[in-house]
Amino acid sequence: MTVQYLPEMFRIKSVERIRLIPREAREAALKEAGYNLFLMNAEDVFIDLLTDSGTGAMSAEQWAAIMRGDESYAGARSFLRLKAAVEDIFGFKHFMPTHQGRAAENILAACLVKPGQYVPSNMHFDTTDANIRARGGRPTNLVIDEASDPSNPHPFKGNMDVAKLKAFLAERRGQIPFGMMTVTNNAGGGQPVSMENLKAVSAAYREAGVPFFIDAARYAENAFFIKQREAGYADKSVKEIAREMFSLADGMTMSAKKDAIVNIGGLLCLNDDALFQNLKNELILREGFPTYGGLAGRDLEAISVGLYEGLDEEYLAYRLGQTAYLTAKLNEIGVQTIQPAGGHGVYVNAGAMLPHIPPQEFPAQALCVELYREGGVRGVEIGSVMFAHPDPETGEMRYPALELLRLAIPRRVYTQSHLDYIVKTFAAVQVRAAGVKGYKFAYAPELLRHFTARFEPL
Ligand code: F0G
Repeated sequence: MTVQYLPEMFRIKSVERIRLIPREAREAALKEAGYNLFLMNAEDVFIDLLTDSGTGAMSAEQWAAIMRGDESYAGARSFLRLKAAVEDIFGFKHFMPTHQGRAAENILAACLVKPGQYVPSNMHFDTTDANIRARGGRPTNLVIDEASDPSNPHPFKGNMDVAKLKAFLAERRGQIPFGMMTVTNNAGGGQPVSMENLKAVSAAYREAGVPFFIDAARYAENAFFIKQREAGYADKSVKEIAREMFSLADGMTMSAKKDAIVNIGGLLCLNDDALFQNLKNELILREGFPTYGGLAGRDLEAISVGLYEGLDEEYLAYRLGQTAYLTAKLNEIGVQTIQPAGGHGVYVNAGAMLPHIPPQEFPAQALCVELYREGGVRGVEIGSVMFAHPDPETGEMRYPALELLRLAIPRRVYTQSHLDYIVKTFAAVQVRAAGVKGYKFAYAPELLRHFTARFEPL
């Protein structure tokens, strides 16, 4: 299958130099970083696919908006502009800016989660998971079974298993402060959630009297997938689809660093008046006054513009076309990835590429190291380093279903030839895959260990 690469829907006005440092220097950089690519100097990376978060290229319109930033402490014009955009797109009654997505999650968890309580979702992202755990809560993932089969081409693999959710809501009645849904499902391959599923999940939460929050980090990409794949939505605009998605929820947390194409920022929206008051007090304590929430006025301006650019359908077609292209090219050379292509990244099945390395020796981490060693490409592990946790009841280690390496594509940053280079790098690693060894921890903190862990090769 040949996937056509849609031309970039922009031209380049400002460039940034990147370098491929020599092989010996890459080797030294790996050692220095304890084989954790989070601990490297970004200048030593040639193509950086660590994350699509805060790494997008802002547009000329966004840079122009930056200059209009009103830095007043309270009631800034920039806040009102953002408020108008947020109300127009998401339609919730209340909103507050936060410095990024996890700050919104922290504030929500701080106000709502009590020790021993459960927060269900299709799949929590790691920061959401950790913010719930940090309050003594138990994040619970109820994604459909198809999500753990990488080759299953289900068009909405981010969907919640509604039967499991209903059973869970009944079983844990009175122990669930709120429920969530991550769109798209980052931890499960950037896979979308259908409108039909959102409707069923919303109905189940409402019936159980559980407030429903959407983790909206990549809501625009999700809405575009609904337009492409779900019956009845082809003629609706992505903005209309997004509005319908949020009409099903009671609130949302959002990292604006993804679909609002900014380098920093987040949002917390909701309808409940009393909860809004509580959250606002927590915001003031942790982030800042409610009209800036830990951001500069200029950041609020950049988000206002970026929110609309992230909904532009020509941009979205190119954007989702990039991940489809890279997925198809990797599959052509025999590299297995999650099917179908996700929204913001390509999720390589590292377990399949390095089948001789067991989960407790971190095969996806090993593949990350090899990609950098081979071609200066930085991906991120989404496997046992990130998600293995001891069971709170038995203490036994629980490993995730898949050992993945994510190649997250920054928005409007890399071109087709960069993607082709990545494919060549994989081809070179493939040749010597059988000889690649696993890793063990030299240091690992309890929560969010992938960020600061250090490794030793086995
Ligand atoms: N929710 C989802 C689905 C995310 O992907 C992220 C961040 C967050 C919440 C937290 O937002 O970083 O602004 O605090 N994901 C990044 C990533 C870090 O690489 O996928 P944040």
